Amino acid sequence: MLFFRRIANKGFCNTIQRDEFCNVSTKITDMIGMNLYKQPNHPLGILSNSIKTFFLNDSTPKSQINAKDTFKIYDSLSPIVDVKDCFKDLLVEDSHETMSPKNTYFINKNHVLRTHMTTHDVDLLKKGEEAFISIGDVYRRDSIDATHYPVFHQVDGVRLYKNQNKEVVFNELKFCLEQLIKSIIKQDIQMRWIDAYFPFTDPSAELEILYDNKWLEILGCGVLRDGVLKNANINPELNTAWAFGLGLERLAMTLFNIPDIRLFWSKDKRFLKQFKQNEITKFKSYSKFPTCFKDFSFYINNDFQENDLHELIRSIAGDIVEEVKLKDTFKTKEGKESQCYRVNFRHMDKSLTNEEINILQFKIREGIVNDLKLELR
Ligand code: PHE
Repeated sequence: MLFFRRIANKGFCNTIQRDEFCNVSTKITDMIGMNLYKQPNHPLGILSNSIKTFFLNDSTPKSQINAKDTFKIYDSLSPIVDVKDCFKDLLVEDSHETMSPKNTYFINKNHVLRTHMTTHDVDLLKKGEEAFISIGDVYRRDSIDATHYPVFHQVDGVRLYKNQNKEVVFNELKFCLEQLIKSIIKQDIQMRWIDAYFPFTDPSAELEILYDNKWLEILGCGVLRDGVLKNANINPELNTAWAFGLGLERLAMTLFNIPDIRLFWSKDKRFLKQFKQNEITKFKSYSKFPTCFKDFSFYINNDFQENDLHELIRSIAGDIVEEVKLKDTFKTKEGKESQCYRVNFRHMDKSLTNEEINILQFKIREGIVNDLKLELR
């Protein structure tokens, strides 16, 4: 597709060349290396630091059983990874929806932008690590609204145990994560465990916290399956390991009261100046600029994937798009299906002029025809 141009990836894996599988625009690759989670005064950096502190100092619950107490931190692993590391080593089947280019950014047939930090677990275990945390940016093709952004951040952790049964390890995992959350939030908070499914863990669970009277899911975890340990050249008869993955954005939006996920990427001082190292404070919203919407109607074909439209719009309008929503759909007498999407534009830091909106509208219409090969109505 035309709008998928060359990848300039700031020093990461320069030798990786895109091929016809590539579905990554430069709007996305430009975000590689932004490292929001390393900025000490940024909400994502504040959370990330508080998690690091928990795992690095004496507050980490000591294992009651046979395991390492000191965690290693990996926070600079390249987000461009092998399909094998991201999915296959973790027993994700080829048919799983996350393996589809509809949902994942492929750079070429064998390389993707990692969709989760769990990607690195098998490799790090293979290297002999027994207790570690990895922090970084992850990428998913998704719809556009206040809580979804194609790049977000996760913290994953793993701890390996010798000669223990899965139940004991699972219980230690849950205890450790409850302590972690208490140490981040620094107040007593209600939590509950929900059964879950992940291809790479069994048993698996999700942790929810009660915040402002709402249950919020914040992490997934479990005991790594035997097949995953085998892929790391570890004998599952003698070893057991827990793993967890926690998303930073959702927790930060709740704790810091941040209403729109795009704000994390804002360079506006009115946003950035509000936060201080090691402190969780409530965001005070500054004036919101007016929103403006445009509708786009076209006939779809069998190849049409809604995420391709979201991607096209992001590649043209970037963070100016606040939301893209299917408004209505109908079938013509001849059986052609028409869809109408409403696109809301709102700049985070200034008012948009009619002229700016018209140019965006024109480019999006052009992209629908030339890149998505669809007929406008
Ligand atoms: N990788 C999972 C996700 O992105 C989270 C997870 C990590 C679950 C480790 C279990 C173990 O949702």
